[in-house]
Amino acid sequence: MQEQRRIALVTGAAGTMGQSAAQGLIADGHQVVLADIDKDAVSAVARELGVDSYPIAFDISDYQACKGAVEKITADVGPVEILVNNAGILSNNKAAETTPEEWHKVMAVNLDGAFYLTQMCLPAMRKAKWGRIINVCSFAAKSGGITAGTAYSVSKAAMIGLTFSIAAETLRDGITVNGIAPAYVRTPMVEKQLTAQQQAEVMAKIPVGRYCEPEEFGHVVKFLASPLSGFITGEIIDQNGGFQFD
Ligand SMILES: NC(=O)c1ccc[n+]([C@@H]2O[C@H](COP(=O)([O-])OP(=O)(O)OC[C@H]3O[C@@H](n4cnc5c(N)ncnc54)[C@H](O)[C@@H]3O)[C@@H](O)[C@H]2O)c1
Repeated sequence: MQEQRRIALVTGAAGTMGQSAAQGLIADGHQVVLADIDKDAVSAVARELGVDSYPIAFDISDYQACKGAVEKITADVGPVEILVNNAGILSNNKAAETTPEEWHKVMAVNLDGAFYLTQMCLPAMRKAKWGRIINVCSFAAKSGGITAGTAYSVSKAAMIGLTFSIAAETLRDGITVNGIAPAYVRTPMVEKQLTAQQQAEVMAKIPVGRYCEPEEFGHVVKFLASPLSGFITGEIIDQNGGFQFD
């Protein structure tokens, strides 16, 4: 089973984990479309990653924007065969402090965007009889959120549900659909959005005693995208430093 050059779409590619996923896929010989809402940041990442990357800026929570973007990618680069639904926003508010606006915003970015892009990329994958969908979930889905809030944890639990549903719908199509459930990757999301006291408390709790490095996350993306991972579908890979065994 030879590694073949594929077209990958990574959302949230201007962020630390998205960049690491993109780097890993480029290292495996793929052409990577870098999608992010932050135009300047995603263009800068593309300049850094070079000719095998293609930047595009759009808001994944906007259905029409997703539609326009997938059409443009298909016309300019080609049909997407590896979709990494990585873009997400964090909210640390627990139920009592969560406003309806916050709830809907978190769901729109963390869940709706992944659903829209999955729906839009699936026809080409089905036609090719090959595809990889990798959904970035979170340990918050299982833990209920250690520091993460209610909307965030629920959105990530729904991503697991989306992974199972789409995996079940694509079993005979040569497509695999899997998730990754990380906890505390060393990113600005963790380092800037938690207070110093919260960070110290978190570090004391992480069983392996350190944060997950972004490259370790990128490695799991590469693994799931590989042709040799074709028998794995509907799986959520825990990457939680020993928080939970199962
Ligand atoms: N950092 C962690 O410890 C951790 C743990 C578990 C899961 N995750 C998940 O991993 C993913 C990446 O996290 P990260 O730490 O790299 O975050 P990050 O904030 O560095 O990157 C997220 C990227 O998504 C982009 N984005 C936000 N809203 C968008 C929208 N509407 N449309 C398009 N792009 C949008 C942002 O501009 C940003 O570049 C997220 O889904 C996050 O929930 C992170």
